[in-house]
Amino acid sequence: MSTPLTRNLNLNGENRTVTVPDEGEQLLYVLRNALGQHGPKFGCGVSQCGACTVLLDGQIRRSCVTPLRTVAEGANVETLDGLGTPEHPHPIQQAFIDEQAAQCAYCINGIVMGALGWLRQRRAAGNTTVPTQEEIAAFLSGEAEGSTLNYICRCGAHVRIMRAIRKAAEVAL
Ligand code: FES
Ligand code: FES
Repeated sequence: MSTPLTRNLNLNGENRTVTVPDEGEQLLYVLRNALGQHGPKFGCGVSQCGACTVLLDGQIRRSCVTPLRTVAEGANVETLDGLGTPEHPHPIQQAFIDEQAAQCAYCINGIVMGALGWLRQRRAAGNTTVPTQEEIAAFLSGEAEGSTLNYICRCGAHVRIMRAIRKAAEVAL
């Protein structure tokens, strides 16, 4: 038998309340179906691809395997939808546009949000250097220090994606 759950969240800077019929519902579906977010995507559903990535209290999270019951009351959730607008893209979005990094773009939500979280973590740890190609490759393959999640791009747009992440790191995030 399922247990309903209500959570108050700070979603992209706005207070939102959501009620789901089953406390085990994954955050990805809550965001997409109840909170109108279009950024997070369903790719694999088992934490293997990265398409559903969001930032939860500043931490990189796979929303496809994050039951709402595990999200703290009042948690801060950042999604791609809240980053920028078509008129005023966030610097990391602008870097992806400048480098024409997307092909089909299905993976881009996850890579943008994951890279944003990773670059912020590096800076918070006192590392203000622009990551090398090797560091970015390690990040994408889940081998970077402090980030064990990988990101899959089925179009093979990795070269442009890596250029975009590097460019994004050159501006203040
Ligand atoms: S859909 Fe979540 S990691 Fe693939
Ligand atoms: S651009 Fe198509 S999956 Fe990455």
